[in-house]
Amino acid sequence: MKKMTRREFITDGAIIAGGALGGLTLGRDFFSLPKALGAAISFPESSCRADKPPRKKILVAYASFCGSTGGVAEAIGRDLCRQGAQIDIRLVKNVQDISGYDGVVLGSSVRQGSWLSEAKTFAQKNQQRLSEIPVAYFLTCLTLYRDTEENRRIVKGYLDPVLESAPLIHPVDLGLFAGALDYSKLPIVVRMVMKSKMKKLEIPEGDFRNWEAIQAWARGLGSPLLGNKGEKS
Ligand SMILES: Cc1cc2nc3c(=O)[nH]c(=O)nc-3n(C[C@H](O)[C@H](O)[C@H](O)COP(=O)(O)O)c2cc1C
Repeated sequence: MKKMTRREFITDGAIIAGGALGGLTLGRDFFSLPKALGAAISFPESSCRADKPPRKKILVAYASFCGSTGGVAEAIGRDLCRQGAQIDIRLVKNVQDISGYDGVVLGSSVRQGSWLSEAKTFAQKNQQRLSEIPVAYFLTCLTLYRDTEENRRIVKGYLDPVLESAPLIHPVDLGLFAGALDYSKLPIVVRMVMKSKMKKLEIPEGDFRNWEAIQAWARGLGSPLLGNKGEKS
């Protein structure tokens, strides 16, 4: 079985940078998403309110490149809603003001060993408020295609730059989840790099999101985020 290090993904930055240069001569679609494809990728945003009067208003904010992290955010949001919260699920780039929320779940897919930059920036920008309310972080990645203790340790390290760049925030929990790989949603040069990398790492194309694990994690947030006392949905 192939072992993965954080560096293995990160060193591809140089290749991708080369691809970006290629994009300058070969056209924007070489490196960025073709318009038609960009439209086909969906980034879900929704709101949910429990039947009974909501006890807490929670924001589930996420960053994603190909959309699959949005599905994880939705699953988390749905579960918190079932536990009695009022939920907004939003892309981080569409959140202007978090002052009205009692808690935040913030997540991102991983690229080159870290959260997408907009998620990191969101945490930094809102650091003061996020230090005053309960916050949980989550990520999706492919290292957890093989969910071993060693890979979990590597993946936990993906959050170090986030924790260091917004040190006032002390997340109540960290959700580490396997994500998805769909080559048709990647720009050409990124697809090429990823195909060769994934071949070496023996990771196939597919959707590896573990909905039971995601739901179990969300259920565990009931106490620290919503103040529920051992209640189950
Ligand atoms: C360019 C690129 C770089 C990636 N870098 C990493 C990485 O360093 N570590 C990792 O475990 N997964 C990495 N992944 C896998 C993604 O985190 C995973 O596919 C995620 O589920 C994508 O979520 P999204 O569909 O919301 O963008 C990378 C994927 C791409 C396309």
